[in-house]
Amino acid sequence: MSPNYQERFRPRFHFSPQQNWKNDPHGLIYHADEYHLFYQHHAHDSVWGPMCWGHAVSADRVTWQHLPIAIAPDEIGGIWTGCVVDDRRNTSGFSADGALVAVHSYEDQSVGLAYSTDRGRTWQRYPGNPVIPSPGGNFRDPQVFWWEESQRWHMAISCEQSIHFFASVDLRDWQKTGEFTAAMGKDAPWEVPDIFYFDLGEQRHWVLLVSMKGAPAGGLGVRYFVGEFDGQTFHTQDELAEDGWLDFGPDNYAGSTWKDTPDSRRVYLAWMNDWRYAESVPTQVWRGAATIPRELELVETAQGFRIIQRPLSELKQLRGNKNQWRHTSIAAGENLIANIRGNQYELCLQLRPRAATEVGLHVLKGCNCELDIRYHTQQETLSVNRMNSGQVGFHGDFPGIASSKINLLGETLSLQIFVDHSLVEVFANQGEAVISMQVFPDEDGEGLAVYARGGDAWLESMDFWRMKSIWETVD
Ligand code: FRU
Repeated sequence: MSPNYQERFRPRFHFSPQQNWKNDPHGLIYHADEYHLFYQHHAHDSVWGPMCWGHAVSADRVTWQHLPIAIAPDEIGGIWTGCVVDDRRNTSGFSADGALVAVHSYEDQSVGLAYSTDRGRTWQRYPGNPVIPSPGGNFRDPQVFWWEESQRWHMAISCEQSIHFFASVDLRDWQKTGEFTAAMGKDAPWEVPDIFYFDLGEQRHWVLLVSMKGAPAGGLGVRYFVGEFDGQTFHTQDELAEDGWLDFGPDNYAGSTWKDTPDSRRVYLAWMNDWRYAESVPTQVWRGAATIPRELELVETAQGFRIIQRPLSELKQLRGNKNQWRHTSIAAGENLIANIRGNQYELCLQLRPRAATEVGLHVLKGCNCELDIRYHTQQETLSVNRMNSGQVGFHGDFPGIASSKINLLGETLSLQIFVDHSLVEVFANQGEAVISMQVFPDEDGEGLAVYARGGDAWLESMDFWRMKSIWETVD
């Protein structure tokens, strides 16, 4: 089958596999001038099953080249989520010239290794697998990093509702050094940790990401903790911050960040889905996509540390034809831009609610469907509602409304919105909050409207860019 990336609902500028199932992106690393993206993949079906590592590479994290499956199930079992490290010092002894080493979960919840000496093109299994046997129960998704201070490898790995830490000098022999847990997300296993740091002035702050249940939109999400790593474990003072979630929408899970990047940006990619309905979403040929890459930044606010997210700036290269509006009143009940249609675009707005009690947009709007993005001035809340967005009945947990508290900056709400056929990401106030959502509109769901309710609002500016496809075979 030669996929053309033009199937109904197929995203054109988000990564998705050529065919069949995808869940977590992982093994994100920059090596020899390439960004690697591996992902949980079922090679023969569009539902979850025996997992192998799908693989793609990119020069810019925007356009991707698919490569053959990197690691397939072996006699121990399916290859679950993990990471890739560059063992350039040959601590593992796998290759005098250094090797990329994949440290991954097996489906039996043990940890295994595979290595590559040809820029990730072919992978050898370590014959001594597993390197950490299963302790029983849920134990998975190792995330490994080299720490100069200890001259050792450190691993964060989820174990039931906690993160365990291990250390090793050679990636083969691991000793447990500590555990971290917190009060939330206690009714399902924690998954897919990632750990890294930001230097703010003289101060180093470590960030631990954990995918878990209990997210603001009601299902799964990615929680972040800001604290310290002392070589043994992670500590934090502020685990109770209620809004320490990377996303307020339902579709952002199992996210992690690129290692060894040539610049200091910390860039995040997640699976744009939720396990509750992931196998039922109405796509054909492929199922499961990644978010757009997002640059993470740690900022200190009056409420404590927060992570803000911005779309990777390289995405601007996809901007095509532009329409713009400036200084326009939006009368209550008026549909401001009835003449624009599309399902593949980026939109940047500066909106002043003024007298309106609600101001917002309908995207992917047809006669009987719309995705409603709305700011409620009294509640100071931004909500994205997919209750009437087209196909919603394939799973009881799919229809819903996601919201986030947003304070206006001055009197202005700033929104940056990416619409890509079945994927919508809304960045509010320069990345202070993000709401990510899948949506499956009707055939005619290509309309766009800006509206005000309860009084007139003001559109300071709106820029609309058609976005190009990242797949060469398309258009
Ligand atoms: C997260 C996850 C991981 C696991 C993988 C299996 O979505 O459940 O914990 O390793 O998916 O595909």
